Amino acid sequence: MKKHVISTSRAQTIDLAKHLAGYLFDGCVITLSGDLGAGKTTFTQGLGQGLGISKLISSPTFTIMKQYHGSLDLIHIDAYRLEGLHQDLGLDELIGTEGVCVIEWPEQIPDLIPAEHLAITITRLSEDKRDLKLEAHGARYDALLEFIS
Ligand SMILES: Nc1ncnc2c1ncn2[C@@H]1O[C@H](COP(=O)(O)OP(=O)(O)O)[C@@H](O)[C@H]1O
Ligand SMILES: [Mg+2]
Repeated sequence: MKKHVISTSRAQTIDLAKHLAGYLFDGCVITLSGDLGAGKTTFTQGLGQGLGISKLISSPTFTIMKQYHGSLDLIHIDAYRLEGLHQDLGLDELIGTEGVCVIEWPEQIPDLIPAEHLAITITRLSEDKRDLKLEAHGARYDALLEFIS
């Protein structure tokens, strides 16, 4: 299943992610694709709000991975600088095993993305307008999209 949502502001993207967070399950995996400045980290911040995480979620580009404690833990991975370097980081043992795992730049680590996941692609249409394409891979993710309008 696939859905498109148009967001016309940062706040709307945050609200969409916050809403989605209410339906996520332990061990789920969400990938976020899109150019720099598309809104991947913004979306992750919305997920964090929905999971009751009060700490500011910043871009983990230089740290690769950050973990936050919430109603479900949020594991935020930014694979931007990871091409070919992930072998020793143990990410494979982390992704999809616990909490909500959000991966920016999944294209850099294709072999670490489980077959079942929610793939979100954000495209910048103008200064404040974004197209969010949500593609479910697997039945549990199809079910998630039922809650998105
Ligand atoms: N509709 C929108 N949705 C998300 N972000 C938006 C939107 N409109 C403007 N923005 C701005 O775009 C930027 C997105 O940055 P960020 O989330 O860090 O992108 P990425 O992680 O994809 O590089 C932020 O400055 C945000 O305020
Ligand atoms: Mg980012």
